[in-house]
Amino acid sequence: MPRRPTHPLAEAVSARNSPSVSKPALKPDSKPAAMPTLPPSPDAPTALLGNLTPSQFMHHYWQKKPLLIRQAIPGVQAPLSRDELFELADQDEVEARLITHFRNKWQLEHGPFAPDELPSLKQRAWTLLVQGVDLHDDRARALLDRFRFVPDARLDDLMISYASDRGGVGPHFDSYDVFLLQVKGKRRWRISAQKDLTLQAGLPLKVLQNFEPEEEWVLEPGDMLYLPPHIAHDGIAEGECMTCSIGFRAPSASELTAQFLYHLAERGESAGKTSALYSDPKQPAVERPAELPAALVERVGAILARIRWNEQDIASFLGTYLSEPKPSVVFDPPQRPLNEARFAGEASKTGLRLDRKTNLLYDRRFFFVNGEEIAWNGARKWLFDFANQRCMSAKRFVTLSHDSSVTALLHEWYCAGWIQVGELA
Ligand code: SIN
Ligand code: CO
Repeated sequence: MPRRPTHPLAEAVSARNSPSVSKPALKPDSKPAAMPTLPPSPDAPTALLGNLTPSQFMHHYWQKKPLLIRQAIPGVQAPLSRDELFELADQDEVEARLITHFRNKWQLEHGPFAPDELPSLKQRAWTLLVQGVDLHDDRARALLDRFRFVPDARLDDLMISYASDRGGVGPHFDSYDVFLLQVKGKRRWRISAQKDLTLQAGLPLKVLQNFEPEEEWVLEPGDMLYLPPHIAHDGIAEGECMTCSIGFRAPSASELTAQFLYHLAERGESAGKTSALYSDPKQPAVERPAELPAALVERVGAILARIRWNEQDIASFLGTYLSEPKPSVVFDPPQRPLNEARFAGEASKTGLRLDRKTNLLYDRRFFFVNGEEIAWNGARKWLFDFANQRCMSAKRFVTLSHDSSVTALLHEWYCAGWIQVGELA
């Protein structure tokens, strides 16, 4: 029998039953948004979070405890159909994994998968996981955008899983926060705050050796489960189903250290500060050539001790590092780009939006777009709005285009495939 804690491990809320607002703050996701989906404002109760405000959610649950939200997105539609997901899994640049649990044996294969490489739909107990769907589809990106009450710097991707009856990835834990949104069919989730996170040895995937579920629910389309890191969980499909995972990124201290030092070294090199070669005019002849000279250690120590950085170096590093597109990302520049005048003419009629793959962050002094740093001046306040809203109205563009440097910059981004003219189709 599963152990039942005195307090339920996950609190359950329902957008339907809450008396706090008379109607959900978000519309059902019945068709793609005409413009990028704006996140709920921090202090507005939202159905997405069971009629909590994003501020309340962040304060009480984020990184702290699970939350089950019934009807987070009433009437939700899967951003991609099953066949569209399978098509995506067949593409080279898409990260796809197939997990099977046939005859009690876990197996993992990496994509791409041609349609005939996937098990039959009638076969039970298999799952296809497709990572980074937001990079390939505007509907998936729009769904991810609903979660932008968490800073973009922390948002990772939207993964979609398709499972045949009884499919799942086994009981496991993740090191990152995740929202698990059921978009098609039903899935039974069991979770546990157990301390024992020992994994079964010799398996191709992370499966817990001793899973002791404490809570369980069947999620239907529109229901969502939030899990902070390290909560053990197991989701098993009841009939075929699809689940969207909104995942977050949290770089480890060692990754940050290594990348920051690399950033400093590159910066120093481009400023010509670190290119001087090590020299040792006083090195005597040695009897024991294999021995590391103590003077060498001392001199390199002195070089390293000269490394200095300030807060702006940290912000520059984080902005460029976190806005860097994933290695698989390739932008699609327009095949026959409009010249600057025609681009301005079109944008004046239809506005602009960031390409779904574009990362645009900023701090007090710089903008960071797809890994590049741009110094800004006071006149660039519009870039804040563009970064936050991921779109710019035609009216705003008309006003801004009086400054030819703005049009030139936006035209450059358009030619690189970083922004698109017009609204979403
Ligand atoms: C799934 O969608 O099947 C797995 C997601 C997860 O457990 O993190
Ligand atoms: Co998981």
